[in-house]
Amino acid sequence: MLSIDAGLFTGLNATQDPLVLFAFSDGGIVDARLLPNKLLKALKTRCEEEDFHAKLGETVSLRASDGTVVRPYLIVGLGKRKAFNSETLRRCGGHIYRAAKSRFETLWVSPPAGLAAPLAEGLLLGSYVFLRYKRPDAEPKLKTVRLLARRAPERARFKSAAARATLFCEAVFAARDLVNRGPSDKSPEALARLAEGLAGPRLSVKVIDKKAAEKLGMGSFLSVARGSSAPPYFVHLVYKPKGKARKRVGLAGKGITFDSGGLSLKRPPHMAMMKMDMAGAAAVLAIFKVLPRLGVRAEVHGFTPLAYNMPGCDAIKPGDVVRAMNGKTIEILNTDAEGRLVLADALAYAARQKLDVLMDLATLTGSILIALGDRVTGAMTNDKALLKRVLAVADKTSEPIWEMPLVKDYRKHITSRIADIKNIGKGREGGAIIGGIFLQEFVDGTPWIHFDIAGTAWSDGHSYCPPGGTGTMVRTMLEYLTSL
Ligand code: BES
Ligand code: ZN
Ligand code: ZN
Repeated sequence: MLSIDAGLFTGLNATQDPLVLFAFSDGGIVDARLLPNKLLKALKTRCEEEDFHAKLGETVSLRASDGTVVRPYLIVGLGKRKAFNSETLRRCGGHIYRAAKSRFETLWVSPPAGLAAPLAEGLLLGSYVFLRYKRPDAEPKLKTVRLLARRAPERARFKSAAARATLFCEAVFAARDLVNRGPSDKSPEALARLAEGLAGPRLSVKVIDKKAAEKLGMGSFLSVARGSSAPPYFVHLVYKPKGKARKRVGLAGKGITFDSGGLSLKRPPHMAMMKMDMAGAAAVLAIFKVLPRLGVRAEVHGFTPLAYNMPGCDAIKPGDVVRAMNGKTIEILNTDAEGRLVLADALAYAARQKLDVLMDLATLTGSILIALGDRVTGAMTNDKALLKRVLAVADKTSEPIWEMPLVKDYRKHITSRIADIKNIGKGREGGAIIGGIFLQEFVDGTPWIHFDIAGTAWSDGHSYCPPGGTGTMVRTMLEYLTSL
């Protein structure tokens, strides 16, 4: 992982390392007064020569002297002053990393006031590569970025911001790694073992196998796994803080390790990316990986129902009726609406743990991708105040979330003639909302938010997010948990 550190001018001056400077398109170089006149002149000339306008992410480089040391300079555009915020720097971090990764080993960056954290985050997030199936010769040259501080107290602040960003990004990377992994290399059993490996002094992991899940009455979850020869596993993780817990928070993550659709088989183009259907569970596991090191003061429970959704001799068939852990019966009319079936039992199980807050992360519906695209997560809740709090946190992390209403009048669309409910609604209308309404049947009144991450869990790539699994919502959940 890219190492982010902090240092003072004296440290920089002892080297010929390159230095990154920022510029506004309508304001010139940031903190220009700190630079020697001669250097500033050379920078300005170069910008003019290169027709550099400091548009967001635009870069220009040159070698110049500050009077004593000759070093490379990289000027990065921040765009317009008015549009500038912490997300600008996160995005610049990604652009800087790309401009520097194969040119320099160490890089110094002077972050605009107070914005070391998002800059560090952008640099780290943008540096992600998935190497599991590649030869290691693909390694980048850039190893260390030093945040340039004016004085010792600022350096201390930068160091702690960098450490926190590094932990957050370690979790995002863990989630991305799991999502990017081939579906046959992440069986429910493999992920359950991986979860067990997270156990430690404050973190306990309970793995519920098929037999134990049968005993618990998880008929809905188990039905999904019936088409695969690989057995399902349900993992319950518990993190306990030092001292009295501020709150008890539950995080459930959909863990379909491949979604073929089952007998309601998907068409090839829709099936192609379905290794990502465990992105919710990946996020939960990734969060637990760093929780103990973040000093979170809440008690946190993780729930991951893990199963393949495959057609097979014993696969569930459209028309089957199953019974979930809370006693409700479900008529399955489409085996491709399996996420809600595994989450039904996960939420019913979670509801028994007497939690103050329950949130689920699930690649639940194609509808949310149609409604909100691939950059906005859909949220549905039975507790507006709770969602408001999470939205404020998500504003900080710049992970856009938009609320979809749990319309009471739509409840009738999942009423079944022969069971308590059915697993699909009316055609494709309001598909994401129907998914949320279905899940609500299992939370037993616990304050709850459902996040539909089907659109945001996978990306074609943008500023600080390489193509593939995104690790969506990991940073927002960590920011929320550390705020308690
Ligand atoms: N895993 C899919 C949802 C999905 C779609 C995730 C696209 C990521 C990208 C889910 O299990 C599914 O197939 N949902 C169906 C539900 C329908 C049958 C009611 C869908 O959205 O089409
Ligand atoms: Zn499906
Ligand atoms: Zn699915």
